[in-house]
Amino acid sequence: MEVLSVASEVYPLIKTGGLADVAGALPGALSGYGITMRTLIPGYPAVLEKLDGGRVAAEIDNLFGFPAKLIAGRADSLDVIVIDCPPLYGRPGNPYVGPEGGDWPDNWQRFAGLSWVAAQLGFGMIEGYRPNVIHAHDWQAGLAPAYIRFGPESAVKTVMTVHNMAFLGFFGSDIFSQLRLPPHAFGIEGVEFYGGISFLKSGMQCADYVTTVSPTYADEIRTPAFGMGLEGLLNARADTVSGVLNGIDTKAWNPATDPALVQTYSANTIHKRHANKAALVETFGLDGEEGPLFCVVSRLTQQKGMDLLLQVLDGAVELGAKFVVLGSGEKAIEDGFHHAAERHKGKVGFTSGYNEPLSHQMQGGSDAIVIPSRFEPCGLTQIYGLRYGCVPVVSRVGGLADTVIDANQAALAAGVATGIQFKPNDGHALYEAIRRAVRLYADEDVWRKIQRRGMKSDVSWETSAERYADLYANLTGLSRYDHPDN
Ligand code: ADP
Ligand code: GLC
Repeated sequence: MEVLSVASEVYPLIKTGGLADVAGALPGALSGYGITMRTLIPGYPAVLEKLDGGRVAAEIDNLFGFPAKLIAGRADSLDVIVIDCPPLYGRPGNPYVGPEGGDWPDNWQRFAGLSWVAAQLGFGMIEGYRPNVIHAHDWQAGLAPAYIRFGPESAVKTVMTVHNMAFLGFFGSDIFSQLRLPPHAFGIEGVEFYGGISFLKSGMQCADYVTTVSPTYADEIRTPAFGMGLEGLLNARADTVSGVLNGIDTKAWNPATDPALVQTYSANTIHKRHANKAALVETFGLDGEEGPLFCVVSRLTQQKGMDLLLQVLDGAVELGAKFVVLGSGEKAIEDGFHHAAERHKGKVGFTSGYNEPLSHQMQGGSDAIVIPSRFEPCGLTQIYGLRYGCVPVVSRVGGLADTVIDANQAALAAGVATGIQFKPNDGHALYEAIRRAVRLYADEDVWRKIQRRGMKSDVSWETSAERYADLYANLTGLSRYDHPDN
């Protein structure tokens, strides 16, 4: 079976968040099921640089105003089809925003382009290549199912995966005439959304099947509080929507082999982690290793509840907690962490920006990771935390609820706890959760057990890859190969 994955970022070629991790890991996870997954990706400079050889598989005279080439090849062990179109994608840095921090004004063209090419591939644009399924990720690929739905008759099936409902890909209706869709596509059964156009809604409306990245988030988005205005659509097609929990790439995230760590370790040699903590303390200029060290590796946004963490930070430091924070995002929150680091020299360290190796070192050296998200479709950093013995302290929403087992009395007694959850998501509950973590940390035996259990949780793609394989098989009527290990 041939599946074309359509994504605006894919690790290790280009990454701003968890979408890249998922799009990067899925092809490998599915290969065991006889599925060949190729990834269609815009030709940002970072992607073109990593392309190894490759051949021009098609030429397009006019991709939303510009000539483009499709280059098929390999890049960092991924099979890719890259859209080489410098006027649309030839911009270094973040794939969505310009140097001033605002969205590129032509994002609708750039990602309509991505989606349109995906559909053309579905219709057989490259000789000898016809995907059975187009798997579109997030709003940037959202128009692909619409182009298929409103295009010529074809056998290709479409899956839309929603990684984050908050990014609707919303544009004014004035772009419609340039989208290359028939007039009747502008309607409630098509791309229209509250008078404008939402690329995400288009995909969710037109795809044969919709998935999101955790079962709890799949339930939450059927309610107005989380549905971003799309809860009606989701309820109307409830039997073709489900949550498939993300796994992680257990090779890239393995504390026993991770080259970013000062000291590698496993669940049985967890005491060795202290060398990583020592290194981290030095990197962030903290005043020693004693006491629990909490980390944050995150986009610094309201979604991630970072304003709540700022509210309780002073109190948490008083409890004896130390913090190391890595991230970038909303200016007010970044400023807040800068000030907190100044106020609490030696107790709070902050590094602004994006740093992949440091993110691994923080998981490998901190005692806990704090994730107070207001909503969280899946969340990967708590899963990396589990794998690295960095105990997750999380709000009970979305994928955080599905991956962490709260260390309440019953779970501790049953020996199943892997972290700390709190609800409701407000400053008070967050503070109480941190206090609970500080107390648990003080009992070394209990803490070690929580760490070890987390490290042994199944966080691989195995189960979820099989769910996607079954989904593709059901949609296409093709059978998937049995997994060789079964
Ligand atoms: P989201 O995709 O909503 O940002 P996830 O938890 O799913 O949240 O994924 C975030 C990914 O981005 C993880 O791989 C995390 O380690 C990484 N990440 C986030 N911020 C940074 C940063 N400042 N530096 C390095 N990696 C980061
Ligand atoms: C989005 C979500 C995050 C999820 C990631 C990968 O960025 O915000 O929760 O883990 O996609 O699916």
